[in-house]
Amino acid sequence: MKALVTGATGFIGSHLVETLLKHNWDVRCLVRQKGPYSWLAKLPVEYVQGDCRKREPLAEAVRGVDAVFHLAGVTKAVDRRTYFEVNAQGTDNLLHACERNNPRLRRFIYVSSLAAAGPGGTPRTEEDPCEPVSDYGRSKLAGEAFVLRRSSTIPITIIRPPIVYGPRDRALPPLFRLFNMGISPCLTGERQRFSFCYIDDLISGILLAFQKEKACGEIFFLDDGIHYSWDEIKDVILKVTAGRQTLSIPVPKFFIRGTACLCDVFAFIRRQPTFFNRDKAQEMIQPGWLCDNSKAKRMLDFEPRFALFTGIQKTYEWYKKVKWL
Ligand SMILES: NC(=O)c1ccc[n+]([C@@H]2O[C@H](COP(=O)([O-])OP(=O)(O)OC[C@H]3O[C@@H](n4cnc5c(N)ncnc54)[C@H](OP(=O)(O)O)[C@@H]3O)[C@@H](O)[C@H]2O)c1
Repeated sequence: MKALVTGATGFIGSHLVETLLKHNWDVRCLVRQKGPYSWLAKLPVEYVQGDCRKREPLAEAVRGVDAVFHLAGVTKAVDRRTYFEVNAQGTDNLLHACERNNPRLRRFIYVSSLAAAGPGGTPRTEEDPCEPVSDYGRSKLAGEAFVLRRSSTIPITIIRPPIVYGPRDRALPPLFRLFNMGISPCLTGERQRFSFCYIDDLISGILLAFQKEKACGEIFFLDDGIHYSWDEIKDVILKVTAGRQTLSIPVPKFFIRGTACLCDVFAFIRRQPTFFNRDKAQEMIQPGWLCDNSKAKRMLDFEPRFALFTGIQKTYEWYKKVKWL
């Protein structure tokens, strides 16, 4: 079996590549730059250089593969246009390449996001109308629309993960450090709750989606099935890191928005996306980000193995090993 993985140099993509190799797949990776690709170093994979915003290199990338796992995407950008160029138009370019150059493709799996569906205080199902609140979410939803539009000519499946975490994820260490300093920011007046998916569970779910014929044309949320309050998340991290009790500091929405504006100005001047911005602030101030994995359990036999405590434990051990903490 042969796969094309886009976004292979990233957090999720590099784990997927490793797992595919373990299952004896031949793997081709679409990469933007000439190496070194830290997580992929020494792995026996084939590289095709290209940016999904440009159509030309994509023909070579998709030729002869059984599956395309499309994970390339931007989660932070300096402007709205970039989100749409990469996450939406880039997806359409890849679909176009598949249609023209790989009539025998067995599956095109698009890794979208819960952000495409939108936030809420109750778990979202695949049937719910989508109400994204950020440019990132809107661009991922536009990517989904391109995927669904081709579903009569290409066998497609869409995966919508919530927050994904695990080794190599760069989003968690700053939170660990903050908690270790005894500080725990929380949103004033809100009791937010969140869905999570440990990286190994997400990869298992993606592979199940490829294996199951009935997943064709479908959308799936994948998470660990538990909805965590901010206090529960904090407790798990403190227990795992044996950290001291933190001081909860309520942060008002206007402060989050104001800080985000400053970050955007900084990003605009440097022409480099910052970790935090107005788009992320818009996501941060929502009542919750929850999804329901029943459809994946029912149709894919998806069984998540890692609840937050075990997942955070494994992630923390890895951070310590590579000295990220
Ligand atoms: N992490 C999460 O919590 C999460 C949750 C839900 C959904 N997702 C989705 O999962 C996917 C992977 O996320 P991640 O966390 O692994 O992100 P990541 O670590 O930032 O990796 C993004 C990957 O996309 C590639 N890429 C970016 N722009 C590209 C372009 N124009 N052409 C080709 N490749 C491009 C990057 O390549 P370079 O190495 O060249 O930059 C990198 O390999 C994304 O589509 C994201 O929307 C992630």
